[in-house]
Amino acid sequence: MKYIEDDLKDKTILITGGAGFIGSNLAFYFQNNHPDTKVVVLDSFRSGETLSNGNLKSFGHFKNLIGFKGEIISGNINDKDLLLDLEMNYQFDYIFHEAAISDTTAQEQDLMIKTNVNAYKDLLELAIRHGANIIYASSAATYGNAPSPQRVGREAPNNVYGFSKLSMDNLSREYMQDCDISIVGLRYFNVYGKGEYFKNSTASMILQFGHQILSGKNPRLFEGSDKILRDFIYIEDIIQANIKAMNPKQSGIYNVGTGKARSFQDIVDILQKELGTTLTCEYMPNPFVGSYQFHTEANIETTKQLLGYKPAYEMEDGIASYVDEIKRIYEEEVK
Ligand SMILES: NC(=O)c1ccc[n+]([C@@H]2O[C@H](COP(=O)([O-])OP(=O)(O)OC[C@H]3O[C@@H](n4cnc5c(N)ncnc54)[C@H](O)[C@@H]3O)[C@@H](O)[C@H]2O)c1
Repeated sequence: MKYIEDDLKDKTILITGGAGFIGSNLAFYFQNNHPDTKVVVLDSFRSGETLSNGNLKSFGHFKNLIGFKGEIISGNINDKDLLLDLEMNYQFDYIFHEAAISDTTAQEQDLMIKTNVNAYKDLLELAIRHGANIIYASSAATYGNAPSPQRVGREAPNNVYGFSKLSMDNLSREYMQDCDISIVGLRYFNVYGKGEYFKNSTASMILQFGHQILSGKNPRLFEGSDKILRDFIYIEDIIQANIKAMNPKQSGIYNVGTGKARSFQDIVDILQKELGTTLTCEYMPNPFVGSYQFHTEANIETTKQLLGYKPAYEMEDGIASYVDEIKRIYEEEVK
């Protein structure tokens, strides 16, 4: 669905992290809805290199971009020469910044701050020099265990990932004071949808439960999963928020969720209905008690007022739209 009237003819858009889940969806949004826009994707892509937790350092995957016709650059946002090259040889009108160490369990504080915070500052400077509005990915992880509903201004990050995103927001506020471009930070809650498979074990539980069920295994949940609630948001609504953030009424930091908390039990129940199964759920003790978000629910009032954002997908709708893709990925990648 197209979210703005402007056809963005002759505009140039940079999408960092464009080979990842959200970035690749943005790239296709522009290709499909604004065909006269030049889209440049910058991503470090996966190299096989891992973090100390065993997960990949970057999840970008070429398969997320099959069918994309724009320009693709393999490069690292920490590379200042590359950023200088982008500054000199392109003229961006909008920058969507999705590149990050997106793994919330990563322990490398040095790499996390360097990649998520310091490189972001360099990109902000580039945006200002180009006069490009910038929209960047913040996160609900800035809230940690702050009580629901989460509101901008009441943050309590409990891991370095959440801290890094809050640092991006603080930096942005400083820049918002006096610059001619708009700067919008979007605090995504738990995102699910097409393109997340290559995030491996950091993909949403919607995809992971979907594949457990398709393989005929009983879904395994933490004990009390009917009381572990999150604000799960479908990728299409994330795209809507990004596009509406291109010309905001006001620069700022905005929550992007549905405004409704749903349980992990709900996910499995909706998936079983969609997939036509009646498997018995198995429950195991939750080893993350203490370091786990038990209830998230975005307050989206200012997002509605100042960005004109209106979430369109309840979890039932999101999963119903996603289920064929869950099956396709299972057939082509998992089986
Ligand atoms: N998916 C979610 O639920 C969620 C929630 C909150 C915030 N976010 C944020 O949204 C953004 C996109 O997340 P995603 O789910 O698409 O994750 P993702 O890991 O699929 O996408 C991030 C992309 O950035 C690339 N990247 C990593 N380090 C890089 C570097 N140094 N230089 C260039 N590229 C680099 C990766 O290769 C990857 O393709 C991230 O900033 C993430 O922190 C995501």
